[in-house]
Amino acid sequence: MRAVDMQSELTRILVTEEEILAKLDEIAARVAADYEGKDLLLVGVLKGAVMVMADFARALPTSVPMDWMAVSSYGAGTKSSGVVQIRKDLDTDLHDKHVLIVEDIIDSGLTLSWLLENFASRGAASIEVFALLRKPDAAKVEVDCKYVGFDIPNEFVIGYGLDYAEQYRNLRDVAILAPHVYS
Ligand code: PRP
Repeated sequence: MRAVDMQSELTRILVTEEEILAKLDEIAARVAADYEGKDLLLVGVLKGAVMVMADFARALPTSVPMDWMAVSSYGAGTKSSGVVQIRKDLDTDLHDKHVLIVEDIIDSGLTLSWLLENFASRGAASIEVFALLRKPDAAKVEVDCKYVGFDIPNEFVIGYGLDYAEQYRNLRDVAILAPHVYS
């Protein structure tokens, strides 16, 4: 689905699929150079990171393993408390691995902040973050993110893995959802 197919539900398009794919090529080239000769593991955070992981991993020039975490909140307070529950843990032992966490978006930063602390105790050789999108104005904690695709305004965004009530993840572009859809 493209943004043009659902224009009445959108305020505006923020990043097109073409811009995303070009950015992924650029970041994949940087990552390939930075991790040359190293034991790299990509870790995706479900569900939002599915699209970016699929395209980013395929933009890399070498074979690389992927693993997945699923995390969720303890009720509605999570986004402000930063308390996260693991719903699906990694299958991989991180010992001596160079971990690159792949995220669709950094909003408050609380999810990644918690994940980074959690991973730090597992013996990884290094841990870095790639986030396709980042909302600088929504940050509640600073997260050290080595690779960032696009800084975006603090708006309700959907598409390319990002949902509203589980809808719109399959939109190819990233767009601002029109308020009449959710209010
Ligand atoms: C989104 C996104 C990040 C997190 C970022 O996930 O995928 O994991 O929120 O927000 P934060 O920086 O404020 O912590 P969400 O919890 O919506 O789950 P989903 O990926 O399954 O949609």
